[in-house]
Amino acid sequence: MSSQPRTAIVTGASGGIGSAIAAMLHEEGFALTLVGRDLDKLAAVASSFGSGPPVHTVSGSLAEETFLDQIVAEHSARYGSLDMLVNNAGVAGNREVGEITAEFLDEQLAVNLRAVILLTSKSMPLLEAAVQQRKSAQIVNIASNAGKRGEASLASYSATKFGVVGFTESLHDELSTSGIKVTAICPGLVNTAMADDYRDSVGADEMIAPSDIAEAIRMTIRVSRSCVVPEIVLLRPIEWRQPEGA
Ligand SMILES: NC(=O)c1ccc[n+]([C@@H]2O[C@H](COP(=O)([O-])OP(=O)(O)OC[C@H]3O[C@@H](n4cnc5c(N)ncnc54)[C@H](OP(=O)(O)O)[C@@H]3O)[C@@H](O)[C@H]2O)c1
Repeated sequence: MSSQPRTAIVTGASGGIGSAIAAMLHEEGFALTLVGRDLDKLAAVASSFGSGPPVHTVSGSLAEETFLDQIVAEHSARYGSLDMLVNNAGVAGNREVGEITAEFLDEQLAVNLRAVILLTSKSMPLLEAAVQQRKSAQIVNIASNAGKRGEASLASYSATKFGVVGFTESLHDELSTSGIKVTAICPGLVNTAMADDYRDSVGADEMIAPSDIAEAIRMTIRVSRSCVVPEIVLLRPIEWRQPEGA
């Protein structure tokens, strides 16, 4: 058994769900690499943790493949292995289908799907090194309830999140017996900046809290090595209800 702390990479850690996940992982004793575009926001998140395992920040756009290589290289140089990759970063995509442009679609594909697949691929040697040390490692992909059921005005976003769910199912099939557990998290509306378009109709106290997502992931860390949690759906009470009279 290694005495080094477990380590994690969290993308989109500069706010919202990602900073809540990062705080939970730090509490659980993970040394961290926090990823986002805004270095000041990442530094503020890192300094909010207080004492504990080291926290490294790296800023850039996940849409750039060279930045994905940089994340893996910097994490590797500091920590040497990776116990948990959290592919959390994402961009919203609220637009009716006739208004979808190439630019609008390409950003969602690049951040929500391409970066998730490529960063996971590039992280495999580090995850395998963690399996060598501790017999297990984990990948958590933040999808959405829109990745389970399509919704009006979310067609392109929903397509990227269905992609994340499909990618995660495939990883489970490929990796689960190697010691690498994989989980897709599919939340409904969460109280972050991404939910700002809904604030006129939904109160903040009616939304899922970012800490709810972090607690669901904490559970996946704490279950025994022989238990895999391939998918978690978290909904508000109003979501996915049958229409009246159905
Ligand atoms: N909020 C919801 O209702 C909801 C529901 C279901 C699923 N989700 C999913 O949950 C995840 C987190 O979303 P959130 O609600 O926490 O949103 P958020 O508050 O808007 O945070 C998004 C994060 O992604 C990062 N990011 C965006 N584009 C990036 C890029 N090109 N390169 C690097 N980082 C980038 C942002 O970093 P910077 O700001 O530093 O650029 C930020 O840290 C996303 O995958 C989202 O699709 C959200």
